[in-house]
Amino acid sequence: MSVTVIKHPLIQTRLTLMRKSDTTSANFRQALEEISSLMVYEVTRDFPMTEVEIETPISKTKSRVMVDEKICFVAILRAGLGMISGALKMFPNATVGIIGMYRDEKTLQPVEYYSKLPADITSSRVFVVDPMLATGGSAVDAIDLLKKNSVKNITLISLLSAPEGIKKVETDHPDVDIFTTSIDEGLNSTAYIIPGLGDAGDRIFNT
Ligand code: PRP
Ligand code: URA
Repeated sequence: MSVTVIKHPLIQTRLTLMRKSDTTSANFRQALEEISSLMVYEVTRDFPMTEVEIETPISKTKSRVMVDEKICFVAILRAGLGMISGALKMFPNATVGIIGMYRDEKTLQPVEYYSKLPADITSSRVFVVDPMLATGGSAVDAIDLLKKNSVKNITLISLLSAPEGIKKVETDHPDVDIFTTSIDEGLNSTAYIIPGLGDAGDRIFNT
């Protein structure tokens, strides 16, 4: 398993905007959408390529394209939904799966309340998207569910991560690579990421 922290200035500048408590929901959502596109761009940097023969207006030539693979983005509700539109800009033909999960406020354990996965997810390369990796409970349970559905190729794309969450995913799912834009200091007593950006779902949906 690998953990990649994407430091690109276009991403970090938007992340700073998202962290600020006076950023409006509209600006927060837009920054998350743009970061999600940029993260997918980075995640796919080393994807396999193949050569194809094409014809330009001038001549025949050989040119390179990505190997045709089925791609599926799985959003963990609610906040993961904020990453889907940006991700789909990079892969307009990808399928989308949804896993509904919330953290019980007392136990901090994730509670699953919904799931709808594409029929062909087993043969797809799957990217789980969720802005926050805090205790790691939600991500680990979502990946458990995907594996129960025989999904083999899973990558986690998480905007902000706590060291605790990374450790949990590493321990429970050592085959899953993680892409994030920051590993923050840790968690506070209610398992919010410090300094983090607050409650991602509330900030996206203005609740
Ligand atoms: C947030 C976030 C993750 C989860 C991370 O969702 O979107 O799914 O918390 O925390 P964990 O790593 O400790 O499990 P939340 O439970 O707040 O639900 P919401 O998106 O519906 O607000
Ligand atoms: N979920 C959030 O939305 N924010 C955190 O800091 C931790 C979990």
